[in-house]
Amino acid sequence: MPRLCPLRAFAAIGTVVFFAVASLDATANNQENCYRDFQPSTGQPGKDVVWVPTNDGLVKRMLEMADVKPTDIVYDLGAGDGKIAIAAARDFGARSVGVEYNPNMVKLARCLVKVAGVEDKAKIIQGDIFETDFSEATVVTLYLLPELNLRLRPTLLKMKPGTRIVSHAFLMDDWEPDESSSSEDGHAYFWIVPAQVAGTWTFRGPDASSFDVHLEQSFQKVFGTAGPTKRSLTETSLRGNELEFAFNDGAVQVRVVARVDGDRMDAQVTRDGKTMKYVGQRKG
Ligand SMILES: C[S@@+](CC[C@H](N)C(=O)[O-])C[C@H]1O[C@@H](n2cnc3c(N)ncnc32)[C@H](O)[C@@H]1O
Repeated sequence: MPRLCPLRAFAAIGTVVFFAVASLDATANNQENCYRDFQPSTGQPGKDVVWVPTNDGLVKRMLEMADVKPTDIVYDLGAGDGKIAIAAARDFGARSVGVEYNPNMVKLARCLVKVAGVEDKAKIIQGDIFETDFSEATVVTLYLLPELNLRLRPTLLKMKPGTRIVSHAFLMDDWEPDESSSSEDGHAYFWIVPAQVAGTWTFRGPDASSFDVHLEQSFQKVFGTAGPTKRSLTETSLRGNELEFAFNDGAVQVRVVARVDGDRMDAQVTRDGKTMKYVGQRKG
C-alpha cells in the first residue's frame, strides 16, 4: 500500500481546512449579500400574520417530529425567510416549498435557498396560503395563529390520510394533536391526517365468515360497536390510514389491524391466536 509522507499529509489536510474555511467565509458573505437590499424586522406585517422566525432548535425539532425523509414534500405555509424549507432540504434531504406572501421576504428567501446550495430541492413561491394548492405535500409546517390554523383545518383534513402537520405554538381547536413537544425553544404540535372511517363496514374472511362493525369518528378518535350484539370496540387507534381495534365475540377477543383505502379496508383479524386476512367494505 502506498504511504503518504507526513509532509504531504499535512499539506493535504491544510488544503482541506483552507477550502472549508474559505467556503464558510463565502457562505457568510453571500448570506450578507442576500440582506443588502432588504433587512426584515421581527413583527413586520405579513398579510394575515406578522413575521416572527422560528428559532433553529425548534425548526429541527418540528422536522424531527414529522419524521421528514428524502421522499417527503414539505410545505411551509407562511415561509418568512425560508428557513424551514431550507432546513427540510439541506438537513433532511426532502423536497420543500415555502409559500410566502410578502415579495421582499420571497426575494430574501430565494437568495438564502441559493446560498444554502439547495436550489434543486427547495422552492419559494409568492402567494397566499389560502389560495395556493399544497395538496401534494406529505408534510405541512405552520407558524401562523390559532384562527388561521382553524381556517386551514378543513383543507388539511381533506389531504391524503397520513399527511403530517406540525405547528409552532398554535393548536387546531378541538382537533387534538397526536404529539406535543415543549422545551426552551418553544412549543410544537404534531398531527397525522386521519382517514375517514365513519360508517358501517362488513368484514369478510377467507372461510366465508363475516362480521359487521359500526364506526364513529371525531378526527383521529374512533368509537364503535361490532357484531350482532353490538359489543363496544376497545383499544382503538387511527394513525393516518392505519386502523386498529378489538372487541369481544363471546369469550374470545378479536383484534383487527387494518389499512384503510377509501371504502375498503385490508385487515388482519386475529382470533384465538390465529390471524387471517379479511376485506372490509363500507356499506352504501
Ligand atoms: C410567523 S411568520 C413564520 C415564518 C416561518 N414559517 C418560520 O417559522 O420561521 C409568518 C409568515 O407568514 C407570512 N404570511 C402572512 N399571511 C400570509 C398569507 N396569507 N399567505 C402567505 N404568507 C403569509 C408572513 O409574511 C410571515 O412571513
